[in-house]
Amino acid sequence: MSAANEQQISDWNGATGARWLANQEWLDRSLSTYGAAALTAARARPGEAVLDIGCGAGATTLDLARQVLPGGTMVAVDISEPLIGRARERAKALELAIDFKLADASAHPFKPAAFDLLFSRFGVMFFDDPVAAFSHLRETLRAGGRLAFVCWRSMGENDWFKVPLGAVLDILPPLPPAEPFAPGPFAFGDRRRVDGILRQAGFANVAFAPFDAPVLLGLGETRQAAVDDAVDQALRVGPLPRLLAEQTDDLRERATAAIRKALAGCATADGVAVFGAAWIVTATA
Ligand SMILES: C[S@@+](CC[C@H](N)C(=O)[O-])C[C@H]1O[C@@H](n2cnc3c(N)ncnc32)[C@H](O)[C@@H]1O
Repeated sequence: MSAANEQQISDWNGATGARWLANQEWLDRSLSTYGAAALTAARARPGEAVLDIGCGAGATTLDLARQVLPGGTMVAVDISEPLIGRARERAKALELAIDFKLADASAHPFKPAAFDLLFSRFGVMFFDDPVAAFSHLRETLRAGGRLAFVCWRSMGENDWFKVPLGAVLDILPPLPPAEPFAPGPFAFGDRRRVDGILRQAGFANVAFAPFDAPVLLGLGETRQAAVDDAVDQALRVGPLPRLLAEQTDDLRERATAAIRKALAGCATADGVAVFGAAWIVTATA
């Protein structure tokens, strides 16, 4: 693997990847509406050749494979050994012939003009040099080929991130200032920036559709159980585990109580669901 994206390669093969793996079913459930919206925009057809970028544990890869196989080709790429390992297991269990590549999507020597469709569910916001990455990926598309992905809009528009984090801001020491557009979940929040990246990379017909849907943070038989589930997940996935690991027991307890209170405020009869805001981005080669 190249020196580019080194931090992400380390994170997704380390603690971040381990957390995603441990919470795969829960994450797939939470993100399913977003993936479904991106799949609808992608319009994969039987017989097509498709690449799933940053496929993770493979939920959308399996969906795409069911759409294009047996006549087509399904390739999926990810830098995370544990996550792509889980994706491979799932494909094997379903007897789906998917070509998984443990590689950096921005540098892997895919065959030129190999794909009809480049797809991603939340897997393209992590490149150190997004213009170079998308230029490289565009060359893998056939004439008339298409790109479709879903990415989060800004941090401020996404309550699933803001609500639990906001609850602890007055309790914990101040966070180091975040670099705008640093590789990470919100790097593609600014539509004008993403539009510029894709145009510089040579894509045409770049289009953005806002997609807003509740993100399910907790489920349970009762409202209380759903809140417990949501708190449990907030402490395991996202920015909080790293943040809280560095605190004293007392601060951790106070922070957990504040998170519980904030999430209880979002509980409904159907579980704890908070607002999420994404872009569905489409373009052509
Ligand atoms: C937020 S997760 C999304 C995973 C999966 N698409 C899903 O929706 O469950 C982001 C994924 O992108 C992968 N990733 C990050 N940078 C990458 C790169 N340069 N090349 C390939 N995969 C990358 C990570 O390893 C991780 O699996």
